[in-house]
Amino acid sequence: MTTDQLRSKFLSFFASKGHPVIPSDSLVPKDDPSLLFTGAGMNQFKDYFLGKRKDVKRAASCQKCIRTGDLDNVGKTPSHHSFFEMLGNFSFGDYFKEEAIAWAWEFLTKELGMKEKDLWVSVYKDDDEAYNIWLKKIRIPKEKITRFGAHDNFWPANAPEDGPNGPCGPCSEIYADRGEKYGCGDPKCGPGCGKCKRYVEVWNLVFTQFNRIGLNKLEPLPSKNIDTGMGLERLASVMQGVETNFETDIFKPIVDEIAQLIDDPAKKSYANSDKEGTGHRNAVADHVRAAVFCIADGVLPANTGRGYVLKTLIRRSLVHGKFLGFEEPFLYKLVDSVVRAMKGGYPEMGSRRENISVIVKSEEEKFFQIGEDLRVDLENLADSLKSGKKDTIPGDKIFYFHDTRGLAIDLIKEFAGGEGLKLDLDGYERLMEEQRKKSRGATKLSGDIFSETLTAAVVGTGVKSEFIGYDKLESDAVVKAIIKDNKPVKEVTGPSEFAVILDVSPFYGETGGQVGDMGTIEGKGFKLEVVDTKLIDKIPVQICKLTEGQVKSGDTVKAKVDKERRMAIARHHTATHLLQAALRKVLGQHVNQSGSLVAPERLRFDFTHFKGLTGEELEAAEGLVNDYIRRNAPLKVKEMGLEEAKKSGATALFGEKYDRNVRSWVTKNNVPG
Ligand code: ALA
Repeated sequence: MTTDQLRSKFLSFFASKGHPVIPSDSLVPKDDPSLLFTGAGMNQFKDYFLGKRKDVKRAASCQKCIRTGDLDNVGKTPSHHSFFEMLGNFSFGDYFKEEAIAWAWEFLTKELGMKEKDLWVSVYKDDDEAYNIWLKKIRIPKEKITRFGAHDNFWPANAPEDGPNGPCGPCSEIYADRGEKYGCGDPKCGPGCGKCKRYVEVWNLVFTQFNRIGLNKLEPLPSKNIDTGMGLERLASVMQGVETNFETDIFKPIVDEIAQLIDDPAKKSYANSDKEGTGHRNAVADHVRAAVFCIADGVLPANTGRGYVLKTLIRRSLVHGKFLGFEEPFLYKLVDSVVRAMKGGYPEMGSRRENISVIVKSEEEKFFQIGEDLRVDLENLADSLKSGKKDTIPGDKIFYFHDTRGLAIDLIKEFAGGEGLKLDLDGYERLMEEQRKKSRGATKLSGDIFSETLTAAVVGTGVKSEFIGYDKLESDAVVKAIIKDNKPVKEVTGPSEFAVILDVSPFYGETGGQVGDMGTIEGKGFKLEVVDTKLIDKIPVQICKLTEGQVKSGDTVKAKVDKERRMAIARHHTATHLLQAALRKVLGQHVNQSGSLVAPERLRFDFTHFKGLTGEELEAAEGLVNDYIRRNAPLKVKEMGLEEAKKSGATALFGEKYDRNVRSWVTKNNVPG
C-alpha cells in the first residue's frame, strides 16, 4: 500500500465515522505564538480542547509536523525525522476511550489488514479503564498489554512533571511486531525494548482530560477529549515491510536521487551500502524535505527563530553532504524529487518548485562562501591556541563562531576534530542559555506593560460586543462598560482617557497592523471623542476622551466613525494586498508579510525575501501595483470558507489570524483580491 493510499484511507475511514476532515495547518502555527513549529496534529485544535471553541465535535487530519529535538538521530535510526506527517482523529468532548480504541483497532486490522497477532498495546500505569477496554472489548490477551509510566504513556511525555502547560493526558500506544528478524532474541523482548527495533510504536491514542497549570498541577478539562497521532512514514514502513522509513515509496526516490548526484563511484557505493554512508544520505533526504516544506510555509533562512531552524537544516545537510563528496551546492537539485514524491498529499507544492529551489541554492552558496573566510579565522584561532599550548576551544569562541558568525555547531566540531582540539561545550551552552533568558525577558516585558492589563480588565467585564462596522459607519448603541486606569467604573465625569465598550460597534479595532478607527460617541448631554479603537478578545474597545458632559454605563448613544479617515485606511489596506501580490509576481511566491502598518496617510509593508531588492525589481513591483490600480476593478466582498478563499486566489497575509470563515474581496480584471 503506498503512502498516498494510507493517507487517504485513514481520512476516509474517519470521515465515515462522522469526522470532518480538516486540512493540515501550516507548519508555522498562526494561533499559537508559544510554538516555533507545529509539532502534532492537535496543535491547531488547542482551543477546542480547552473548550474555547465548539463549532465541531470531531475532526480528522493529516498534519505536517516539524520536531527538532532529536536532529542528531535523524538518519542514524530507522524512523527519526525532522519533518513528518501525523495522521490523527480528534474528539472534543464527544466520544472517549472506548470508541477511540475500537476505531483504531478496526482501522489497523480491517482497513489495513494488519494481523491481530502482530499488534501489542500499552496503557498508562493507573489507567484501568483503557486496560479493560483492550482486554474485555477488544479481547487482547493480557500478556500483550503493558503498563508504562508517565514517560512513555502520558502525552506530552512526562507532562505532569516536565510540562509544558496546556491540554494533556494519559495515553495508550499500539505497537506492531515486525518479526523475529528485527529482534534481539532476549526472551523478555517486547514493546519498549531498549535493545532492538522489533516492536515499533505506530499509534498513540491520547486521552486528553487535563489542563496542566504548573508542576504536577493537573486540572480536569471541561470535557474529555481524544487526540491521536500516527506517524505516516512509520506506518508506511511497517505496511511496506521495509527496514527503515527511508526505503518507503515516498522516501526512496529522494534517497536514490541523492546517490544519483554523487560522481565519485566510491562515495556512491558508500552512500548506498555502508551503514554510516546511508546514515548521511538519509539525513540529507530528511532535512531537504523539511527545508522544502518550511519554505513552502513561509519560512526563510535567518539567524533567529524559525529561520534559524531552517538554516540549521540546510547547513546540516551540507555537512552530511560533505561526507558523500559534495563540495558545491547540490541540495537545490533535490527540491524537484521532494515535490514529486509529496505531490499526492500536497499538490500545491508543484507551483512553488522553482522558487523554493532558488532559495535553497542561495543559502547553500552563502554556506560555501562563508566557509572560506571562516576557515581562515578558525585556523588562526587554532594556531594561537596551539602556540599557547592549549587543547580546547573556549566556550566564548564557540559562541562567537556559532552565534555571531552563523557557523553550525557540527561544523565547528568537525573542524576541532580535524585539528585535534577539544571543545568547551558546557561553557558554550551557558552563554547560549544566558542569551535565551535575555530574549525571553525582553519579550515578557513588552507584553506585561503594553497589553496585559487592559486586556484583563476588558475580559474581566464579561461584556460582549458585536462589530458591525463593515456595513455601517454609524449606529445607535448602549454603553455596556467603562474602564478607566484598567479598572471598571460606573461613570466618567472629568477630562481623562478611558475605554468604552458598546453593545454594538461600528469602530474597527486595531489588528494586524491596521490602525483603529476614530470618531465620536454622543449621548444626551455628553460627547466623547474616540481617539483610537483596540480589538481585545474580539471586542472593539473604544479609547475615548470626554469633551462635554458626563457618561455612565447604560447610556444610549450614537456612535459615528470618521468616514473619510476609514476610507483612507481601507484604500491602504487594499494596497497592501496589491503590493504583496505584485512582490510575489516579481520576486516569487515565498514573499510573505512579516509586519505592516496600515494607516490613513500611509502604509508600510514588511516582507520576507532572501536578499535586497534591485532597482529593476522595485520598479517592476511599483509598475504592477499602479497597473492594478489603473484597472479600477470593482470590488465585492464575499464571506467564504478560508480554504475556498485561498483557492480563489486570495492572498492570506502570513502571521495574521484567520477564522475558518473569512471576508474576501472578489475582483474582476485579474486584479488580486
Ligand atoms: N499528540 C499526540 C502525539 O503527538 C497524539 O503523539
